Amino acid sequence: MKIEELLILVKPDGVKKFLTGNILTKLSESNMIIIGSKVVKVSEKLAQAHYYHLRDKPFFNELVDYIQGKVYGDSWNMVLAFVYQGDDAISKMRRIVGATNPEEAESVSIRGSYGRITTKGLYENVVHCSSNVSEAMREIKLWFKPEEIIKNIYATKTIIVDKEKKIIWA
Ligand code: TYD
Repeated sequence: MKIEELLILVKPDGVKKFLTGNILTKLSESNMIIIGSKVVKVSEKLAQAHYYHLRDKPFFNELVDYIQGKVYGDSWNMVLAFVYQGDDAISKMRRIVGATNPEEAESVSIRGSYGRITTKGLYENVVHCSSNVSEAMREIKLWFKPEEIIKNIYATKTIIVDKEKKIIWA
């Protein structure tokens, strides 16, 4: 058994096309469990950090706008983020998700079924799926706090935070 964790994002095009249900149904074929989930309004800082490895690509700025949902207007500037866990999770999930380029993705995969290439040439491929164990750890730590995941998957430490500004229910 090779238990792995990975980050899945339903990107803003997936949210806007109301594909979340279809995507989660497809992903459930993997028999993985969800150990963290939330809706996120993506900041520019988070978008840039997530796609840091592509910072030199000509499509980087467009990609950062895309993951923030900027192209779809204010109602769709969100992604759904999930941490999945299971045996051989990354390669199993990437098979279900399909190739990065929706035109090259298998037609039964999520990206093959629902993705498109924009007229500007950007791949709107509906979901993000971590590509390997070290990227998965980097991404999960970027998107989730330890208390938002119901299992202890990575080492943590306790710190005392003084005078932290917090919004609570009024
Ligand atoms: P990448 O991390 O290479 O692929 P994946 O998402 O499959 O791990 O690329 C990140 C995103 O950048 C990808 O989901 C869509 C976009 N992208 C393009 O628009 N054009 C490209 O040529 C590539 C490689 C990626």
